[in-house]
Amino acid sequence: MARLKTVYRCQSCGHSASKPMGQCPGCSEWNTMAEEVIEARPGSLTESVAEARGTLTNFSSAVTALKDAREDVETRTPVGMPELDRLLGGGVVPGQVILLAGPPGIGKSTLMLQAAAKLAARGTFLYASGEESMRQISSRARRLGLSADDLFLLSENSLAKILAAMEQVKPWALVLDSIQTVTHPQLASSPGSVGQVRECAAELVRAAKARDTVVFLLGHVTKDGALAGPKVLEHIVDTVLYFDTEQHDFLRVLRAQKNRFGPTDEVGLFEMGERGLKEVTNASAFFLAELGRAAQPGRALGVALEGSRPMLVETQALVVPTRYPLPRRTATGLDLNRVLVLLASMERHVGLRLEDRDCFVSLAGGLRLKDPALDLAACMAVVGSTRDKAVPSDMILLGEVGLLGEVGRVPQLEARVKEAAKAGFSRALVPARAARDLAKIPGMAVTGVADLRAAVSAAFGSGGDDFSDED
Ligand code: TYD
Ligand code: MG
Repeated sequence: MARLKTVYRCQSCGHSASKPMGQCPGCSEWNTMAEEVIEARPGSLTESVAEARGTLTNFSSAVTALKDAREDVETRTPVGMPELDRLLGGGVVPGQVILLAGPPGIGKSTLMLQAAAKLAARGTFLYASGEESMRQISSRARRLGLSADDLFLLSENSLAKILAAMEQVKPWALVLDSIQTVTHPQLASSPGSVGQVRECAAELVRAAKARDTVVFLLGHVTKDGALAGPKVLEHIVDTVLYFDTEQHDFLRVLRAQKNRFGPTDEVGLFEMGERGLKEVTNASAFFLAELGRAAQPGRALGVALEGSRPMLVETQALVVPTRYPLPRRTATGLDLNRVLVLLASMERHVGLRLEDRDCFVSLAGGLRLKDPALDLAACMAVVGSTRDKAVPSDMILLGEVGLLGEVGRVPQLEARVKEAAKAGFSRALVPARAARDLAKIPGMAVTGVADLRAAVSAAFGSGGDDFSDED
């Protein structure tokens, strides 16, 4: 078969060569030379413009005024998995190409098979896999208790055969597991290389748009980024979803990195179990069940906001005498720089002595968040661990802590406090200024605190003053 005319181009500096090379002669980087298709067409741009001009009879036929442009009538199809649908902005749109990326073994194939079984109820669904045999896929489907009449499997890694199957089967949705296993017949480089991945994906995008087929591409990401994948595809697909775990063994977090048809700040939570992925729709209940409610020095609860969803989270702190010349500070799940600022703020404003203590601050449950509303909870967890005092188990703490020790407002306070009330909490410490605007929430006693000192006395029932002479 005739090969396409290709060139090997460095993905970082643009240097091109006619042969594959491990190291780029231009910038000396390794593994950046990727095969690219070059299609030199005869003629110049000027000629093409002249030709295009000939086809335009008048200006108004070529362009459309915004006011006259017809809106895309949205025909969104929900997948039927609420956690996934929320991320997709309600469902999939015809012709949408979705990249589902994540490290190997995270559960991409499992998630897609579960989604495929749901989506097959709405029409023919083609599940093409270059990773697993039909037998493997069908035994997994059986183990997961999935069955669907209109779900068709194809174990294949030739792009040509997959496109041919698309033509014949005419699925309304297709999965390709994974983009790194397919080969473009006209490229010489091996599957998984940047050139292959990009050209195969481009062909599939073309096919998806031409037939209004929903296409899911699965892609592996590796820590060192050696395998080509998600990064080179981000700009050609409509939606990029990342599936990952955050230290928890069984909790999986799905995030939208890019979405032409929906929001990008939502997260979907799943729990990997014996029978596949279970959606964690009530995140607060899930975390509380995981963490328990007992009052304990060093723990304080807050409500974080992930996208539009308020979620109960637990901050933990361990403050112990240091054995090192330089005390250690670590933050897990929270931003270390943020934690350092909070520690300094507490040393200065509530007289907490930390200069000879190691401080370990973390977010329980394996989440990683950057929500400043958790500042107050993190601070009180640190105070609690230092003084061996517990924040009451029915109390929730919310507020951003500033350099002056002031407790500041946070977005969506009311939604957060309501979430806590729903989970059975009956006391909330919130920023003093925001407390006034907060509507009365049944069953919830709200206390406004203006600064760290006020927060310490409200949380531990002691005045902040006695902190300076502790020990
Ligand atoms: P998989 O979907 O194959 O991951 P990926 O496609 O991202 O590489 O899932 C891999 C892991 O999930 C595997 O280690 C086994 C585990 N798993 C379960 O724990 N329960 C299940 O029901 C299934 C299907 C998989
Ligand atoms: Mg897989």
